Amino acid sequence: MQIARGISGVGVVDREIDLFEGQYAVPNGVSYNSYVITDEKIAVIDTVGEGFGEEWLGNIASVIGDAEVDYLIVQHMEPDHSASITDFVRRYPEATVVASAKAFTMMNNFFGADAVRKTLTVAEGSTLSLGRHTLTFVAAPMVHWPEVIVTYDSETGALFSADAFGKFGAPDTDEPWADEARRYYIGIVGKYGAQVQSLLKKTASLDIRMILPLHGPVLTENLGYYLGLYDTWSCRRAEEEGVVIAYASIYGNTAEAAKLLARELEVRGETVKLYDLARCDIHAAIADAFRYDRLVLASSTYNGDVFPPMHAYIHGLTERGFCKRTVAFIENGSWAPMATKVMKEMLEGSKELTLTAAGVKLLSAVKESTHLEIAALADELCRR
Ligand code: FEO
Repeated sequence: MQIARGISGVGVVDREIDLFEGQYAVPNGVSYNSYVITDEKIAVIDTVGEGFGEEWLGNIASVIGDAEVDYLIVQHMEPDHSASITDFVRRYPEATVVASAKAFTMMNNFFGADAVRKTLTVAEGSTLSLGRHTLTFVAAPMVHWPEVIVTYDSETGALFSADAFGKFGAPDTDEPWADEARRYYIGIVGKYGAQVQSLLKKTASLDIRMILPLHGPVLTENLGYYLGLYDTWSCRRAEEEGVVIAYASIYGNTAEAAKLLARELEVRGETVKLYDLARCDIHAAIADAFRYDRLVLASSTYNGDVFPPMHAYIHGLTERGFCKRTVAFIENGSWAPMATKVMKEMLEGSKELTLTAAGVKLLSAVKESTHLEIAALADELCRR
């Protein structure tokens, strides 16, 4: 697929994968993008995941025929992009592999010291001329591993952005870009907001006319929208107003309270997202906690702690730097309710949280008095 003059997409789509990185549901699959730049010299940018090497090499051949590749640029060593390096080296043994010093260390660790023969180590600001296309490398540590470089082509204004600006789902999936890009970003790169900010600052002076990520569609229009979302996500600002209610319920009583609160908020005109943490896609629930400005955590007490799905959820939030939100609590306990205390303790390291004064305490089941507590909490959540 030709993307721009001299640049073609040669990636593959994995439609069989069940869990990306062993944990993220990808019902519409995921793409492992790879690109060829055809010039006086030919460069391939990144390889593809395990099991797709032959198809990928066929895609390269469909662009360059029998020509030899001069350079393989390895921007990122996570196996979804690096697993086919050895396939590549077998087919193009004379190509020079271009990567950061850390990437070569990882290549050694993954494939052994003899896996690649001809190497070129690049770092921040290194350039590589292919003819008309001059590539400049920009270090992007922790976006999403420490070895990552991204690549800018001044001829076309293409930014080969590695994992940044990626998205779950095959590129032709008919769905809003932001929904699956957000779940991907928050899930995978969300911990590294400061590093994404650093990359955005470094690339701000570049004349970027298209973004070519390693997952999802190539972005060619309205780039300010995508860059703006990455700025919002990496600063962990709320994208919009709304209340996420995440509940972990054993026999349905905590769930009932959560649903009653949802109704109270909806009649007050609020956008509400309700998640049953024992059954939902927890990564969608985590992404929405970062999308909206208010969060309600509702949990049964269990073994003097929170019910385990809530524990996993709060850990999923805090390890990604959850902050700057209003948070409220609903707890349940038949003899010694502990859930609110535990949930607050789990969030102690989260910065700039506003905890509501109102909360809801159930002793086993919803009672008449519970409705009053829920209405008071709804009122407080709507007063901003
Ligand atoms: Fe798409 Fe961090 O690998």
